[in-house]
Amino acid sequence: MTGNIVGERFVLVSFGESHGKCVGAVVEGCPAGLKLSEEDIQKDLDLRKPGQSIVTTQRKEGDVVEIMSGTFRGYTTGAPIMAMVRNEDQKSRDYESLVSTPRPGHADATSKQKYGGFNDYRGGGRFSGRITATFVMGGAIAKKLLSETLGIEIIAYTSELGGLRAEKFTLDDARRNRYSNEVRSPNPIAAEEMRKKVIEMRGKGDSLGGVVECVALNVPAGLGEPVFGSLDSDLARMALSIPAVKGVEFGSGFASTRMTGTQNNDLFRMRDGRLLSDTNNAGGVLGGISSGMPLLYRVAFKPAASIAARQRTYDTAKGEEVDLVVPGRHDPTVVPRAVPVVESVTALVLADHAIRGGFITPVLKRVD
Ligand SMILES: Cc1cc2nc3c(=O)[nH]c(=O)nc-3n(C[C@H](O)[C@H](O)[C@H](O)COP(=O)(O)O)c2cc1C
Repeated sequence: MTGNIVGERFVLVSFGESHGKCVGAVVEGCPAGLKLSEEDIQKDLDLRKPGQSIVTTQRKEGDVVEIMSGTFRGYTTGAPIMAMVRNEDQKSRDYESLVSTPRPGHADATSKQKYGGFNDYRGGGRFSGRITATFVMGGAIAKKLLSETLGIEIIAYTSELGGLRAEKFTLDDARRNRYSNEVRSPNPIAAEEMRKKVIEMRGKGDSLGGVVECVALNVPAGLGEPVFGSLDSDLARMALSIPAVKGVEFGSGFASTRMTGTQNNDLFRMRDGRLLSDTNNAGGVLGGISSGMPLLYRVAFKPAASIAARQRTYDTAKGEEVDLVVPGRHDPTVVPRAVPVVESVTALVLADHAIRGGFITPVLKRVD
């Protein structure tokens, strides 16, 4: 049972349950000398926290981060950094009935089976979207490290929600708009359509899935440790560790299967002494190694499992099929809140590989 630690040189340990005392992260391997404050983490946590709008769960959490170790005089020391937020707005009684009537599409049945019923099922326990707050805590530190050392910028946004696609936008639009609308769309017109669809679906007691697209700029060529530590396999693994993720594609991805080699190949050009290409069907990764082109990948989210509509399930206490109306407060779509989570896991993987590849040193600067 060692599934809560990830990374080789920039390591994240994720801990805490949805209705326990807290959720938190330990980051081991962050270089010394990075200026880091609670505000650096808080601003990303605020983008993920629940209860912010009509398209998210109404659970209200302050999610105020506390850094408990690993910084001194405003800088990282090289020691493990522990950050956490306390859980405040739990309604655990909502979950008692789910012990014997597992939610279709959720982890109630599999977690009970695996841990012999000892798992903390309240609020979904370790299988709650709430654990992604810990990814964001580690990811915010990784983002700052990448930005200050290599100038890497990570931009994720909702490219599709409930079958509606955000079309006609530039990366600049995405940078500017994504966090100024509730659905995190790069295009405000698409955002309004998506928002309406979420509200309509919520009214029907149903939920929606969608796609988060992620771009990382200024990623140097050479990140990735083929074959089992290739950059794309590590990114895919991290993305698939986000609850509700069901698919990942890089560049032209699944569409490349319907293209020919001449259509899909990115032709090399020499630009300012760097071997780049005009197209980016590879998504910035070739042979598991970053190419120097922008990293571009997409993450597919299923519709949230906990819906208000009546469903059938199997009652293990009664030994019969029964009707289930899922209690509690839930996201009608997880996609908007997952946007900063995708940015975070991308940062975690890039930071790990940048350190592994020698692009970032263990001490960023010296003080006498
Ligand atoms: C930010 C975020 C919020 C989530 N909120 C909910 C929710 O309110 N209701 C729900 O059923 N699932 C929610 N999920 C997804 C479940 O945690 C997930 O579907 C469940 O653990 C089963 O795992 P699987 O879908 O990966 O198989 C959320 C996921 C994320 C990333």
